[in-house]
Amino acid sequence: MTRRILVTAALPYANGSIHIGHLVEYIQTDIWVRFQKMQGHDCIYCCADDTHGTPIMIRARKEGVAPEQIIEKMHAEHQRDFAGFNIDFDSYYSTHSPENQQFSETIFNALKDSGHIEIRDVEQAYCDTDKMFLPDRFIRGICPKCGAPDQYGDSCEACHSTYTPVELKDPACSICGNPPVRQTSKHYFFKLADFTEQLQQWVAAGHVHPQIANKLQEWFQQGLRDWDISRDAPYFGFKIPGETDKYFYVWLDAPIGYIASTKNYCNQTGRNFDDYWHNPDTEIHHFIGKDITYFHALFWPAMLMGANFNTPTQLAIHGFLTVNGEKMSKSRGTFINAATYLKHLDPQYLRYYYACKLGSGPEDIDLSIEDFVSRINSDLVGNLANLASRSVTMLNKNLDAKLGALTTEARELLAQLAQAESEIAQLFEAREYASAIRTICRLADLVNRYIDDRKPWKQIKTDPEHARETLTTVANAVRLLTIYVKPIIPAFAEKIESILNVEPLKWSDTQTLLENHTINPFQRLIERVDPDKAQAMIEESKQEQAQDAKSSKTPSPLDEEPLAEQITYDDFVKVDLRVAKVVKAEHVEGADKLLHLELDLGGETRSVFAGIKKAYDPEQLLGKHMIMVANLAPRKMKFGLSEGMILAAGPGDADVFALTIDPGAKPGQRVH
Ligand code: 2FM
Ligand code: ZN
Repeated sequence: MTRRILVTAALPYANGSIHIGHLVEYIQTDIWVRFQKMQGHDCIYCCADDTHGTPIMIRARKEGVAPEQIIEKMHAEHQRDFAGFNIDFDSYYSTHSPENQQFSETIFNALKDSGHIEIRDVEQAYCDTDKMFLPDRFIRGICPKCGAPDQYGDSCEACHSTYTPVELKDPACSICGNPPVRQTSKHYFFKLADFTEQLQQWVAAGHVHPQIANKLQEWFQQGLRDWDISRDAPYFGFKIPGETDKYFYVWLDAPIGYIASTKNYCNQTGRNFDDYWHNPDTEIHHFIGKDITYFHALFWPAMLMGANFNTPTQLAIHGFLTVNGEKMSKSRGTFINAATYLKHLDPQYLRYYYACKLGSGPEDIDLSIEDFVSRINSDLVGNLANLASRSVTMLNKNLDAKLGALTTEARELLAQLAQAESEIAQLFEAREYASAIRTICRLADLVNRYIDDRKPWKQIKTDPEHARETLTTVANAVRLLTIYVKPIIPAFAEKIESILNVEPLKWSDTQTLLENHTINPFQRLIERVDPDKAQAMIEESKQEQAQDAKSSKTPSPLDEEPLAEQITYDDFVKVDLRVAKVVKAEHVEGADKLLHLELDLGGETRSVFAGIKKAYDPEQLLGKHMIMVANLAPRKMKFGLSEGMILAAGPGDADVFALTIDPGAKPGQRVH
């Protein structure tokens, strides 16, 4: 029976590039979708950019552009990167779309009309300088638990404790650095607890992995809390119907983006939208990372239940990626962007490697660069590709590129391969890709052993037709194995299809064999991984990080005005500083910055013009003891001769501070 299946992967934020951590999910999902399509199911893969929220708005402000400009550029970049990894979406849309606005309003209105929305006042951190409420991530301060400086408003990266921004010590707005104040405003809440029973039933019906179901039980036991779904202006998002300065929180419209992307697909293809979201026969599978389980296992199904849309059939939840056993690290060069990877390595490698590591559970997976190199070189190049090259090259070179007939013995071997079809299909369906690959590799080993026993390179010299028999078997084995790996490495499979001169392979082709058939010349299928290239990719990622750190750093005054040429200590001590008493202070006609001072230097009087008019009134200075550079050569100025300089410094204008000392100090006394 043909299944109608809608598959989604989490919508990536539009304010960042796709990296190899993201790719775990998009590749995992793509493999699943390709498998379903090969099975002949009516399956589509929908995704979109997640565009709204404060970070995009702040970034746009900083860059002096509209948020729309940023999201448009990122949309193109994301699509390019995904295509580079053969991730084949049926619709890649945007949450900043009219369809998404319309569905967000429809769902919100439905929840409101059925009494699941409540409005109440909330007191929150507000920045008076930036005139905005600050999300927790935009408040920095000292961790109340461990005292680590410069921590976010909601959690500490040093001790991993969580708290509220009110508890943070010395909180400051991360945009302008000023301390936030408390301010109250009206917020909209979604009453999640109204759906507790329905959600519990939904979880009990097996839509999530058992490990996730356990986690959900904990949340049910704690009781489901209302969810704040509104944000005050300024905000980049959709306005709440009937409000002028309130917006939907980004996490409300983000998952609705799944629906909008489906609608986009239907608009493009003429398919019926209601088949996807209003027909219980359709399966909806959301692939997500474990960090966003709460949103997808509680808020999202509850919203759908409240607005009468189909609820998810399955949440396929994966773990995080570590590289060489550690969190991806910018400084170690293991935070690798998709685009950087593609400059150095073949995307098929990563697709294959992730598949080797992936199971159905939410465990983290590790990409060890060393293991990556050896795994690809042994399995993919040494085993699978090698089978194809050994057989096809000989057929082309010595046997007119013609497959012959299959013997009974050959059929037995091939039957073993074909019979594994249902086991492998079940493993793909259950997202147990690592097990599927183990099974496929075992089958490939059988074929390699068959070749080694038969030795077609010897047969070809003594009995070419016998060799043709052997190689026909191998070519058929390659074709069957290619069907199995096709969801994982589609580009590799496409080359085999072209070499074997066959139509795009489907799962049902496991039930047929190729005999008396002409094949095409061999083409290189895949190169060995060059460890130097992997290293070059890491080095480039390190450099990108250094570059980012440099360009995101707030420019220092030293960057704008570099330090003057160095002077020696001997130069410095040449400056003779003396106490000088102001005996006369007056404005200078026609000068807007200067005051004229007469300074008693203990026995002699100096006339000095000082640029402190905007900071001091003359009468304030009269009688004050100041410090002057007494051995400065007299300088002729527009208004007269200046015979020294008083010590005063500051950024300028009113912010200039003259150094004054104890009135008991004696004029002419040297100071150091
Ligand atoms: O965590 C994230 O990266 C979010 N942008 C995922 C959103 S998924 C869905 F809800 F839109
Ligand atoms: Zn601020």
